[in-house]
Amino acid sequence: MPKLLICGRGGSGKSTLVALLARRLGEKERVLVVDADESNLGLGAMLKLQPPEKTLMDHLGGKPAVREKLMAALRGRGDEVMQLFTEKITLDNLPPECMYREGQVAWLRVGKIEHVMEGCACPMGALARAFLNHLAVGDGEWVLVDTEAGVEHFGRGVLEGVDAVVVVAEPSHEAVILAEKAVKLAREAKKNYGVVLNKVVDETEPALREMLAARGIEITGVLPYSPAVGWANLWGEPLEGGVMRDEVDRLVSGIKGMLETGHR
Ligand SMILES: Nc1ncnc2c1ncn2[C@@H]1O[C@H](COP(=O)(O)OP(=O)(O)O)[C@@H](O)[C@H]1O
Ligand SMILES: [Mg+2]
Repeated sequence: MPKLLICGRGGSGKSTLVALLARRLGEKERVLVVDADESNLGLGAMLKLQPPEKTLMDHLGGKPAVREKLMAALRGRGDEVMQLFTEKITLDNLPPECMYREGQVAWLRVGKIEHVMEGCACPMGALARAFLNHLAVGDGEWVLVDTEAGVEHFGRGVLEGVDAVVVVAEPSHEAVILAEKAVKLAREAKKNYGVVLNKVVDETEPALREMLAARGIEITGVLPYSPAVGWANLWGEPLEGGVMRDEVDRLVSGIKGMLETGHR
Protein backbone atom coordinates (compact mmCIF):
# COMPACT_ATOMS: atom_id res chain seq x y z
CA MET A 1 0.00 0.00 0.00
CA PRO A 2 1.15 3.52 -0.61
CA LYS A 3 3.17 6.20 1.03
CA LEU A 4 1.59 9.51 0.03
CA LEU A 5 3.16 12.95 0.38
CA ILE A 6 0.52 15.65 0.81
CA CYS A 7 1.60 19.09 -0.33
CA GLY A 8 0.21 22.47 -1.37
CA ARG A 9 0.25 26.11 -0.40
CA GLY A 10 -0.17 27.21 3.20
CA GLY A 11 -3.78 26.97 4.30
CA SER A 12 -4.88 24.91 1.28
CA GLY A 13 -6.01 22.10 3.58
CA LYS A 14 -3.11 19.62 3.66
CA SER A 15 -3.50 18.79 7.33
CA THR A 16 -7.27 18.69 7.05
CA LEU A 17 -7.01 16.26 4.15
CA VAL A 18 -4.53 14.09 6.04
CA ALA A 19 -6.82 13.97 9.09
CA LEU A 20 -9.94 13.16 7.04
CA LEU A 21 -8.14 10.42 5.09
CA ALA A 22 -6.53 8.99 8.23
CA ARG A 23 -9.83 8.75 10.07
CA ARG A 24 -11.70 7.17 7.16
CA LEU A 25 -8.97 4.80 6.02
CA GLY A 26 -8.28 3.88 9.65
CA GLU A 27 -11.76 2.37 9.95
CA LYS A 28 -10.57 -0.62 7.91
CA GLU A 29 -6.82 -0.37 7.39
CA ARG A 30 -3.70 0.64 9.26
CA VAL A 31 -2.57 4.22 8.85
CA LEU A 32 0.63 5.97 9.87
CA VAL A 33 0.50 9.75 9.71
CA VAL A 34 3.94 11.33 9.46
CA ASP A 35 3.93 14.98 10.51
CA ALA A 36 6.81 16.39 8.47
CA ASP A 37 5.78 20.03 8.92
CA GLU A 38 8.36 21.56 11.24
CA SER A 39 6.17 24.58 12.06
CA ASN A 40 2.48 23.76 12.35
CA LEU A 41 1.14 22.30 15.57
CA GLY A 42 -2.54 21.52 15.00
CA LEU A 43 -2.48 18.08 13.38
CA GLY A 44 -2.87 16.19 16.68
CA ALA A 45 -6.08 18.06 17.50
CA MET A 46 -7.49 17.33 14.04
CA LEU A 47 -6.64 13.65 14.48
CA LYS A 48 -7.77 13.54 18.12
CA LEU A 49 -4.44 11.98 19.03
CA GLN A 50 -1.98 12.93 21.76
CA PRO A 51 1.46 14.09 20.67
CA PRO A 52 3.95 11.23 20.86
CA GLU A 53 6.37 11.47 23.78
CA LYS A 54 9.27 12.43 21.48
CA THR A 55 9.78 13.62 17.95
CA LEU A 56 11.91 11.40 15.73
CA MET A 57 14.57 14.12 15.91
CA ASP A 58 14.68 13.97 19.72
CA HIS A 59 14.68 10.19 19.63
CA LEU A 60 17.86 10.36 17.54
CA GLY A 61 19.64 12.67 19.96
CA GLY A 62 18.25 16.06 18.97
CA LYS A 63 18.81 18.46 16.11
CA PRO A 64 22.53 19.21 16.76
CA ALA A 65 23.33 15.47 16.70
CA VAL A 66 21.36 14.89 13.51
CA ARG A 67 22.85 18.02 11.93
CA GLU A 68 26.33 16.73 12.75
CA LYS A 69 25.58 13.40 11.04
CA LEU A 70 24.18 15.29 8.10
CA MET A 71 27.30 17.44 7.81
CA ALA A 72 29.53 14.38 8.10
CA ALA A 73 27.55 12.67 5.36
CA LEU A 74 27.82 15.76 3.17
CA ARG A 75 31.59 15.96 3.72
CA GLY A 76 32.18 12.26 3.18
CA ARG A 77 29.78 11.25 0.47
CA GLY A 78 28.80 14.40 -1.31
CA ASP A 79 25.12 13.79 -0.72
CA GLU A 80 22.66 13.66 2.13
CA VAL A 81 22.70 9.93 2.73
CA MET A 82 22.77 9.59 6.48
CA GLN A 83 23.23 6.33 8.28
CA LEU A 84 20.50 7.10 10.78
CA PHE A 85 18.56 3.96 10.05
CA THR A 86 20.28 0.72 9.28
CA GLU A 87 17.27 -1.58 9.14
CA LYS A 88 13.94 -1.44 7.42
CA ILE A 89 11.34 0.35 9.50
CA THR A 90 7.80 -1.02 9.55
CA LEU A 91 4.59 0.00 11.26
CA ASP A 92 5.39 -2.68 13.84
CA ASN A 93 8.91 -1.70 14.84
CA LEU A 94 8.63 2.09 15.07
CA PRO A 95 10.27 3.45 18.22
CA PRO A 96 7.40 3.44 20.77
CA GLU A 97 8.37 6.83 22.27
CA CYS A 98 8.01 8.43 18.82
CA MET A 99 4.53 7.28 18.05
CA TYR A 100 1.06 7.54 19.47
CA ARG A 101 -1.41 4.93 18.33
CA GLU A 102 -5.12 4.63 18.82
CA GLY A 103 -6.94 1.82 17.06
CA GLN A 104 -5.55 1.53 13.56
CA VAL A 105 -4.26 5.10 13.30
CA ALA A 106 -0.81 6.07 14.54
CA TRP A 107 1.19 9.22 14.13
CA LEU A 108 4.75 10.34 14.41
CA ARG A 109 6.32 13.78 14.32
CA VAL A 110 9.64 14.27 12.56
CA GLY A 111 10.74 17.40 14.43
CA LYS A 112 9.65 20.93 15.28
CA ILE A 113 11.37 24.29 15.50
CA GLU A 114 11.59 24.90 19.26
CA HIS A 115 14.08 27.73 19.87
CA VAL A 116 15.05 31.11 18.47
CA MET A 117 18.27 31.04 16.46
CA GLU A 118 18.27 27.24 16.33
CA GLY A 119 18.93 27.28 12.61
CA CYS A 120 17.09 26.10 9.55
CA ALA A 121 14.86 23.07 9.12
CA CYS A 122 17.23 21.23 6.76
CA PRO A 123 17.95 18.50 9.35
CA MET A 124 14.20 17.86 9.61
CA GLY A 125 13.96 17.50 5.84
CA ALA A 126 16.97 15.19 5.66
CA LEU A 127 15.59 13.11 8.52
CA ALA A 128 12.15 12.86 6.91
CA ARG A 129 13.81 11.76 3.68
CA ALA A 130 15.93 9.09 5.40
CA PHE A 131 12.97 7.86 7.46
CA LEU A 132 10.63 7.56 4.47
CA ASN A 133 13.30 5.83 2.43
CA HIS A 134 13.62 3.16 5.12
CA LEU A 135 9.93 2.82 5.87
CA ALA A 136 8.38 -0.31 4.36
CA VAL A 137 4.60 -0.61 4.18
CA GLY A 138 2.61 -3.77 3.70
CA ASP A 139 -0.83 -4.61 2.33
CA GLY A 140 -3.61 -2.79 4.12
CA GLU A 141 -1.27 -0.07 5.36
CA TRP A 142 -1.17 3.59 4.38
CA VAL A 143 1.39 6.24 5.17
CA LEU A 144 0.23 9.85 4.91
CA VAL A 145 2.96 12.50 5.08
CA ASP A 146 1.80 15.98 6.02
CA THR A 147 4.27 18.62 4.83
CA GLU A 148 5.01 22.29 5.28
CA ALA A 149 3.67 24.83 2.82
CA GLY A 150 5.34 25.27 -0.54
CA VAL A 151 7.90 23.15 -2.34
CA GLU A 152 10.93 23.08 -0.08
CA HIS A 153 10.43 19.38 0.64
CA PHE A 154 10.80 18.69 -3.09
CA GLY A 155 14.18 20.41 -3.03
CA ARG A 156 15.17 18.44 0.05
CA GLY A 157 14.19 15.15 -1.60
CA VAL A 158 11.62 14.20 1.03
CA LEU A 159 9.55 12.68 -1.77
CA GLU A 160 12.28 10.20 -2.72
CA GLY A 161 10.81 7.35 -0.67
CA VAL A 162 7.11 7.95 -1.31
CA ASP A 163 4.91 6.36 -3.96
CA ALA A 164 2.89 9.40 -4.90
CA VAL A 165 2.41 13.09 -4.30
CA VAL A 166 -1.04 14.52 -3.57
CA VAL A 167 -1.25 18.24 -4.26
CA VAL A 168 -4.01 20.19 -2.50
CA ALA A 169 -5.33 23.25 -4.32
CA GLU A 170 -7.88 25.66 -2.88
CA PRO A 171 -9.47 28.38 -4.99
CA SER A 172 -6.66 30.91 -5.32
CA HIS A 173 -4.19 31.94 -8.00
CA GLU A 174 -1.27 31.08 -5.73
CA ALA A 175 -2.66 27.56 -5.21
CA VAL A 176 -2.99 27.06 -8.97
CA ILE A 177 0.53 28.12 -9.83
CA LEU A 178 1.92 26.19 -6.89
CA ALA A 179 0.01 23.07 -8.00
CA GLU A 180 1.50 23.50 -11.48
CA LYS A 181 4.97 23.67 -9.98
CA ALA A 182 4.41 20.72 -7.64
CA VAL A 183 3.17 18.60 -10.55
CA LYS A 184 6.22 19.57 -12.59
CA LEU A 185 8.51 18.59 -9.71
CA ALA A 186 6.65 15.31 -9.10
CA ARG A 187 7.03 14.46 -12.80
CA GLU A 188 10.72 15.35 -12.64
CA ALA A 189 11.06 12.94 -9.70
CA LYS A 190 9.11 10.32 -11.73
CA LYS A 191 6.48 10.04 -9.01
CA ASN A 192 2.79 9.42 -9.40
CA TYR A 193 0.75 12.44 -8.46
CA GLY A 194 -2.81 13.58 -8.02
CA VAL A 195 -4.39 16.98 -7.51
CA VAL A 196 -7.23 17.49 -5.04
CA LEU A 197 -9.44 20.55 -5.09
CA ASN A 198 -10.36 21.70 -1.60
CA LYS A 199 -12.73 24.30 -0.15
CA VAL A 200 -14.56 24.67 -3.46
CA VAL A 201 -18.17 25.76 -3.86
CA ASP A 202 -20.42 25.65 -6.94
CA GLU A 203 -19.01 28.89 -8.35
CA THR A 204 -15.32 28.22 -7.75
CA GLU A 205 -15.02 24.52 -8.65
CA PRO A 206 -15.51 24.92 -12.44
CA ALA A 207 -13.16 27.90 -12.52
CA LEU A 208 -10.45 26.05 -10.64
CA ARG A 209 -10.87 22.97 -12.85
CA GLU A 210 -10.58 25.14 -15.96
CA MET A 211 -7.42 26.88 -14.72
CA LEU A 212 -5.75 23.56 -13.93
CA ALA A 213 -6.94 21.95 -17.18
CA ALA A 214 -5.37 24.85 -19.07
CA ARG A 215 -2.10 23.77 -17.44
CA GLY A 216 -2.63 20.13 -18.46
CA ILE A 217 -3.57 19.01 -14.96
CA GLU A 218 -6.39 16.52 -14.30
CA ILE A 219 -8.25 16.37 -11.01
CA THR A 220 -8.03 13.34 -8.72
CA GLY A 221 -10.64 14.37 -6.21
CA VAL A 222 -12.68 17.18 -4.75
CA LEU A 223 -13.49 18.22 -1.20
CA PRO A 224 -16.08 20.99 -0.99
CA TYR A 225 -15.97 23.85 1.43
CA SER A 226 -17.53 22.52 4.64
CA PRO A 227 -18.62 24.87 7.42
CA ALA A 228 -18.40 21.87 9.81
CA VAL A 229 -14.71 21.44 8.99
CA GLY A 230 -14.01 25.16 9.43
CA TRP A 231 -15.92 25.20 12.74
CA ALA A 232 -14.14 22.13 14.10
CA ASN A 233 -10.75 23.59 13.22
CA LEU A 234 -11.63 26.91 14.81
CA TRP A 235 -12.20 25.15 18.14
CA GLY A 236 -9.40 22.64 17.77
CA GLU A 237 -11.91 19.81 17.61
CA PRO A 238 -11.18 16.55 15.80
CA LEU A 239 -12.27 15.72 12.27
CA GLU A 240 -14.10 12.47 12.82
CA GLY A 241 -14.41 9.77 10.18
CA GLY A 242 -18.00 10.78 9.47
CA VAL A 243 -17.12 14.28 8.22
CA MET A 244 -17.77 14.49 4.47
CA ARG A 245 -17.80 10.69 4.34
CA ASP A 246 -19.05 10.34 0.76
CA GLU A 247 -16.67 12.97 -0.56
CA VAL A 248 -13.73 11.38 1.26
CA ASP A 249 -14.70 7.95 -0.11
CA ARG A 250 -14.79 9.31 -3.65
CA LEU A 251 -11.42 10.90 -3.04
CA VAL A 252 -9.96 7.60 -1.80
CA SER A 253 -11.23 5.92 -5.00
CA GLY A 254 -9.62 8.67 -7.05
CA ILE A 255 -6.30 8.23 -5.25
CA LYS A 256 -6.42 4.44 -5.68
CA GLY A 257 -7.16 4.93 -9.39
CA MET A 258 -4.24 7.33 -9.70
CA LEU A 259 -1.94 4.82 -8.00
CA GLU A 260 -3.11 2.00 -10.27
CA THR A 261 -3.02 3.81 -13.58
CA GLY A 262 0.25 5.57 -12.79
CA HIS A 263 -0.27 9.26 -13.35
CA ARG A 264 3.18 10.63 -14.09
N1 LIG B 1 -12.91 21.53 3.07
C1 LIG B 1 -12.82 22.53 3.95
N2 LIG B 1 -13.90 23.25 4.31
C2 LIG B 1 -13.81 24.28 5.17
N3 LIG B 1 -12.67 24.70 5.74
C3 LIG B 1 -11.54 24.02 5.42
C4 LIG B 1 -11.55 22.92 4.53
N4 LIG B 1 -10.28 22.45 4.41
C5 LIG B 1 -9.53 23.23 5.21
N5 LIG B 1 -10.28 24.19 5.81
C6 LIG B 1 -9.80 25.25 6.71
O1 LIG B 1 -8.69 25.91 6.11
C7 LIG B 1 -7.72 26.23 7.11
C8 LIG B 1 -6.38 25.64 6.71
O2 LIG B 1 -6.48 24.24 6.71
P1 LIG B 1 -5.21 23.33 7.03
O3 LIG B 1 -5.61 21.93 6.83
O4 LIG B 1 -4.61 23.70 8.34
O5 LIG B 1 -4.22 23.81 5.86
P2 LIG B 1 -2.68 23.49 5.61
O6 LIG B 1 -2.33 22.27 6.41
O7 LIG B 1 -2.58 23.27 4.14
O8 LIG B 1 -1.92 24.70 6.03
C9 LIG B 1 -8.24 25.68 8.43
O9 LIG B 1 -8.83 26.72 9.15
C10 LIG B 1 -9.29 24.67 8.00
O10 LIG B 1 -10.35 24.58 8.92
MG1 LIG C 1 -0.86 21.94 7.90
